[in-house]
Amino acid sequence: GVFWALIPAAGIGRRMGTDRPKQFLTLGPRSVLAHTLSIFLEHPRIRGVILVLGPDVDPDALDLPLAGGRLFRVAGGDERADSVQNGLDFLEERAGPEDWVLVHDAARPCLPPDDLDRMLDELRDDPVGGVLAAPSTDTIKWADADGRVESTLDRERVWRALTPQMFRLGTLRDVNARARAAGHPVTDEASAIEWAGLRPRLVEGSLMNIKITRAEDLELARLYLLEQGRLDGG
Ligand code: CTP
Ligand code: MG
Repeated sequence: GVFWALIPAAGIGRRMGTDRPKQFLTLGPRSVLAHTLSIFLEHPRIRGVILVLGPDVDPDALDLPLAGGRLFRVAGGDERADSVQNGLDFLEERAGPEDWVLVHDAARPCLPPDDLDRMLDELRDDPVGGVLAAPSTDTIKWADADGRVESTLDRERVWRALTPQMFRLGTLRDVNARARAAGHPVTDEASAIEWAGLRPRLVEGSLMNIKITRAEDLELARLYLLEQGRLDGG
């Protein structure tokens, strides 16, 4: 199979509350985004990387890793799903409908390369595709709008969806467009795939693969990169 990475990095990071969007904050010598891109650019099985940036971002002002012509830039949209759609539309010109696309949040720089390999191996012959996921450590309550619990979900079956989310280009482009047009909330790629009646497979991934969301997450990401030997101490 042929594998592409699509990195949505066009968000503003409202919850982080920093002066720059969180993907441009630094972890050691490089930006969060540069860490994330390196995982895919240094991976021998990834053919190319589509980077979706905000329309106002000057890419020359970013210290992006050397890519040898394997990095392509696209302008993003208002919602994450719009940014992803722009990336998929771009890819349609250069990739086949059966090629795999791995959509991965720019704000997840701690994805272990081993998880990526395992995902490619486990899903390469899958009819649908799937997502990295982590078993829930908390008990999850299902509640009404007033915060009154209706039920407790069976913890053995509750998973947190991480990224990458890996689907065939043709399928993902089609269902993402249709789910958005139908007004279905597309918070991740899998939700669009599910909306179309398909069932993504979960591949268990590392808990280190956090999405940097709030201020305290940056320190945690630093620790995880250190632990993986991807950041020098001190
Ligand atoms: N993203 C994007 N285009 C958007 C919104 C989000 O490409 N219109 C990207 C973000 O840059 C991020 C990923 O999607 O890498 C996950 O989104 P999230 O963590 O929600 O980031 P933000 O939307 O930037 O943060 P916030 O929701 O706190 O504003
Ligand atoms: Mg957001």
